[in-house]
Amino acid sequence: MSFDSNAYREASLENWEEAAAGWVARQALMREFAAPVSHWLIDAISPQPGQRVLELAAGLGETAMLAAELVAPMGGVVVSDQAEAMLVGARARAIELGLANVEFQVLNAEWIDLPLASVDAVVCRWGYMLMADPATALGETRRVLRPGGVLALAVWDSIEHNPWAALPARELVERGVVPAPDRSAPAPGPFVLGSAERVAELLEQAGFAEIEVQAVDLLRRHPDFEELWDSTLDLSRNFHDAILSRPPSEIDGIRASLAERFAPYTSADGTLEIPGRTLVARASS
Ligand SMILES: C[S@@+](CC[C@H](N)C(=O)[O-])C[C@H]1O[C@@H](n2cnc3c(N)ncnc32)[C@H](O)[C@@H]1O
Repeated sequence: MSFDSNAYREASLENWEEAAAGWVARQALMREFAAPVSHWLIDAISPQPGQRVLELAAGLGETAMLAAELVAPMGGVVVSDQAEAMLVGARARAIELGLANVEFQVLNAEWIDLPLASVDAVVCRWGYMLMADPATALGETRRVLRPGGVLALAVWDSIEHNPWAALPARELVERGVVPAPDRSAPAPGPFVLGSAERVAELLEQAGFAEIEVQAVDLLRRHPDFEELWDSTLDLSRNFHDAILSRPPSEIDGIRASLAERFAPYTSADGTLEIPGRTLVARASS
């Protein structure tokens, strides 16, 4: 089956508009889980006072907001996402943090509605691999960066390194709730850019220079399995929709089986500690 990029874009937008409430509810969990990545990205762009920083596929805009204080008072950040509902959550977070130099813009990263060479740096945490055409999005990113500007991005490493996602996916595939992914014709998805070589190649093809790609290990902590289950429903629309399509007795079975799959990650104090691995990259325009 060939990939219908326009149908994908439409479904992705709807998905993320619906997912926003769950992401707002789980923002503290994501902030803690993602902290090493956010700090890597900010170090990589090294924001200076007076600069303008763009975050693409920003969700709640957490990474840009870390840069906002560093570029203040004359500089500012633009938090952008295709989903308006995500930016509603981002606005609330900026108010909570008392940030005055944050703008918000609904935009698709594949056609960035900003002028040529209009920003000093771009950050994108866990966005490009979800786009219908990441190569076009990287070309657009380079267009809006000033010459010598910096891009820092994160994409998930392969699913084998991310049991927090691999175990629920395996459970659903083995039960026939969702089809097995077609590895010969990979559609956009969290793990589709999970190779350092592929990321470097895409950056190079988009014209970036001084490319650096590395892996960062993460740890996702949950007080217990119940909290892991609830947050997976909140954060993954695909998981949520697949689960809610099943009868209650089957949902109970899936839940019990997943609790067993995650049990080996129980730490000495009874909490769950599940590893993850992401790739991060820095490149100059
Ligand atoms: C996994 S979330 C990551 C959110 C945030 N960057 C973070 O790390 O918490 C992916 C986000 O990418 C956005 N997104 C996906 N494709 C996009 C596109 N083509 N243009 C702009 N945003 C996009 C979604 O709307 C969603 O908010």
